[in-house]
Amino acid sequence: MNIQNLPIEIKEHIGKVQKITFPKQGHTSTVAILDTCDQKYIIKKTENDLYNEWLSDEYQVLQYLYHTGLPVPKVYSFHREDTSRWLLMDYIDGISLREFLSKMPDLQSKEKAIFNFR
Ligand SMILES: Nc1ncnc2c1ncn2[C@@H]1O[C@H](COP(=O)(O)OP(=O)(O)O)[C@@H](O)[C@H]1O
Ligand SMILES: [Mg+2]
Repeated sequence: MNIQNLPIEIKEHIGKVQKITFPKQGHTSTVAILDTCDQKYIIKKTENDLYNEWLSDEYQVLQYLYHTGLPVPKVYSFHREDTSRWLLMDYIDGISLREFLSKMPDLQSKEKAIFNFR
């Protein structure tokens, strides 16, 4: 993924990107963290029919869940372009449950984390 190739609609929304980094990638999309002077975003791009459809579903589900009060990222825009799709959302800071558990927290914290992961 390349800053220059971001859809204009998305570029306009986020303004000047100061830094682009790539987290551990998922299995269905290309994921990048976009740092601007006032906010961090996540952009996801998919490039085939099935994954495009999943990204579109993800957009709808995240919009729906946002109003439930669950801590999900706010989605800003879903963009269609030929055979690609782009989803822009808030970056949420955190680590995976796997990473947390591998840091060997005490048993009580472990149980609490697993219990809360539902
Ligand atoms: N909104 C977000 N905030 C912070 N990190 C995110 C966000 N979305 C994705 N990531 C990071 O990118 C990785 C891959 O994202 P994921 O949504 O699993 O992609 P895929 O749909 O391709 O599997 C996640 O494991 C996480 O580290
Ligand atoms: Mg994934």
